[in-house]
Amino acid sequence: MTSDSNSIETKSIHAGAYEPKVNKAVTLPIFQSSTFEYSDNESDYHDIKYLRLNNTPNHIVLHRRLAALENAEAALVTSSGMAAISTSLLALMKAGDHLLIQDCLYGGTHSFVAEDLVKTGVTFDFIDAQNPKSWEKKLKPQTKVIYVETISNPLLQIADLKAVIEFAKFNRLVSMIDNTFASPVNFRPAEWEFDLSLHSCTKYLNGHSDIVAGAVIGREALIKTITHKLNHLGGTLDPHSCFLLERGIKTLALRVRFQNESALKIAQFLSTHRAVSKVYYPGLEVHPQYRRAQELLNGFGGVLSFELKGGSDAAVSLIDRVKISTHAPSLGGVETLITRPGVTTHISIPPEERLKLGIRDDLIRLSVGIEATADLISDLDGAL
Ligand SMILES: Cc1ncc(COP(=O)(O)O)c(C=O)c1O
Repeated sequence: MTSDSNSIETKSIHAGAYEPKVNKAVTLPIFQSSTFEYSDNESDYHDIKYLRLNNTPNHIVLHRRLAALENAEAALVTSSGMAAISTSLLALMKAGDHLLIQDCLYGGTHSFVAEDLVKTGVTFDFIDAQNPKSWEKKLKPQTKVIYVETISNPLLQIADLKAVIEFAKFNRLVSMIDNTFASPVNFRPAEWEFDLSLHSCTKYLNGHSDIVAGAVIGREALIKTITHKLNHLGGTLDPHSCFLLERGIKTLALRVRFQNESALKIAQFLSTHRAVSKVYYPGLEVHPQYRRAQELLNGFGGVLSFELKGGSDAAVSLIDRVKISTHAPSLGGVETLITRPGVTTHISIPPEERLKLGIRDDLIRLSVGIEATADLISDLDGAL
């Protein structure tokens, strides 16, 4: 069956599949071959069929499927989320160019920009994504790219995304958004005219915490430039991981819709608990960007953060006592994970800067899996 349906459930199973099916196999087999027989129409080095060039049948189907999920023109899979982010920035920026980037974002992206990208001669300024008026002051004639996250990690802020797009268009900047936390179920950047959406597919897209993978989705011309760079840097996703990612994507909508609902119920439970001092979740009416989240997102996501009245000691003890949640970084899988971002995912940000951003050492991040919501609440209640 080919899929002309626009529903994300159908597209996540069928979009971009080979028709007819390869040897009538219902599931696309793993093409575990580094090289492919040469054919005469391969006029360019980048057209030769070779695993590092990301053009095996497993890659091609994933590219078509990911583009379809976000209603975008094209997509490219990479060996990790960081490979997608670093390769895209390296492909689109050169010495002398300037980047505007959200101040509170995934620690790996933060350190890549501050420690590595600057060594190529690119300069950058952090921006407060809630305050569009402040962006103008940081804009330079050399500014080329504006970069934000849909739902920021780990404080779950929702940037003024409509203002980002307007600002990017007006100033002819490439707009990039890390859409990992929202997933294509809750937000599709191309529909809002973002140029590029980045994903750690390690998270919701794969959903089973068994591979590391990434993707960049968006305008065809930009994806072509990034593919060229990826082919040189070598951040290819191996065929077995391609297969697992394709399998994971098939249940994306089912998982994320359940996780949206479950996380909201858990956030509501925590916000009324006497041991909890603050809950960060965009689906709570008290969240400062609740209205914006309602307007932009189809769901508020499966991640929430919270602080306890007892501070860091209480946070350590809670993490020790929960039985269902696993103490581990990462997110977006079927199993609930609990972590303190200040000592794991965001440890690479210097402590003073972390505090300035609002990431306290006692902040706990919960990535809600697909276990029964009542079990997770009862487990947290017991531990609190
Ligand atoms: C929002 C976000 N973007 C990117 C990444 C990097 O992804 P990966 O670990 O797949 O390289 C992560 C990892 O936690 C993340 O949370």
